[in-house]
Amino acid sequence: MDERLVDEHELDEDMQSELSLRPDTLNQYIGQHNIKSNLDIFIKAAKLREEPLDHCLLYGPPGLGKTTLAHIISNEMGVNLRTASGPSIERPGDLAAILSALQPGDVLFIDEIHRLSRVVEEVLYPAMEDFFLDIVVGKGEEARSIRIDLPPFTLVGATTRVGSLSAPLRDRFGVHLRLEYYDDKSLEQIIERTAEVFNVDIDSQSTNELSKRSRGTPRIANRLLRRVRDFAQVEGSHAITIKTTKHALDLLQVDREGLDHIDYKIMQCILNNYKGGPVGLDAIAATIGEERITLEDVYEPYLIQKGFIERTPRGRKATAISYDHFEVKKD
Ligand SMILES: Nc1ncnc2c1ncn2[C@@H]1O[C@H](COP(=O)(O)OP(=O)(O)O)[C@@H](O)[C@H]1O
Ligand SMILES: [Mg+2]
Repeated sequence: MDERLVDEHELDEDMQSELSLRPDTLNQYIGQHNIKSNLDIFIKAAKLREEPLDHCLLYGPPGLGKTTLAHIISNEMGVNLRTASGPSIERPGDLAAILSALQPGDVLFIDEIHRLSRVVEEVLYPAMEDFFLDIVVGKGEEARSIRIDLPPFTLVGATTRVGSLSAPLRDRFGVHLRLEYYDDKSLEQIIERTAEVFNVDIDSQSTNELSKRSRGTPRIANRLLRRVRDFAQVEGSHAITIKTTKHALDLLQVDREGLDHIDYKIMQCILNNYKGGPVGLDAIAATIGEERITLEDVYEPYLIQKGFIERTPRGRKATAISYDHFEVKKD
């Protein structure tokens, strides 16, 4: 079975259920207490001043709730949300079209904002700072720059790789919010809520098991729950029990730490092929046939968080606990 648990640009399997799974308010947004309490104050203050919220940069691994937060911000501010993504804004004119269609106070959400081209970024700077566009029209002798005033708006940018953002762009965001992996308790709450939306019964042992195997990521928790629900349904059972849960997760090749077969390939590569490292990410990517970006954005952060890998100046190294977990003998 080669089903991937984590995918950078996952196509939601079921958009309809995805929408109903999305919390609408900060209160319904589970976990991430730091972000919530900060945002709550910033939103209240902006509303009191009757100003748009300062531009917000959301960053962290995929599936942790960045897009969801962008929706919540616009909801809580009581304004429209316009969405775009870095790669879809190809030319300055594309950005100008989006910006000039905004209503006062609107939230513009740009996903994958690290993928904006430099020329587009340059149009964005004055728009973010002083709400105007400075664009060049015409060519050669005829070229002239025109200035277009914009309504005040809030830019919400999301990225999995904040390090790839140019410094001038990063500095123009007044609010930087870093999403963290979720703890088991928060994931349990998310799974319970999703089970309610799906209208399926699940016992607390199963909820707990799923939370532990979701690599701290709500999107994966919801995804695993969908799969386990499939197993229960095919077995003709109306409720999800721990037996079905464990059986399903084993067939899906998700181990007790939430690691999948790609994590295993990465770790076995470091532990066996490179004797525990240090080894560069490019070498790992080439050995196991995965893209470096996927390893860096999706797999490595969790393996580091779990303490299986450490980053050193000379490359990635396996830690002592990884020999145990991946059952490799140290020689
Ligand atoms: N704090 C949260 N509480 C409840 N559900 C969440 C939370 N964060 C994310 N989710 C759910 O997880 C899924 C992925 O979230 P999403 O916002 O698309 O992640 P990202 O944009 O960071 O990749 C969505 O179905 C969303 O409803
Ligand atoms: Mg997203």
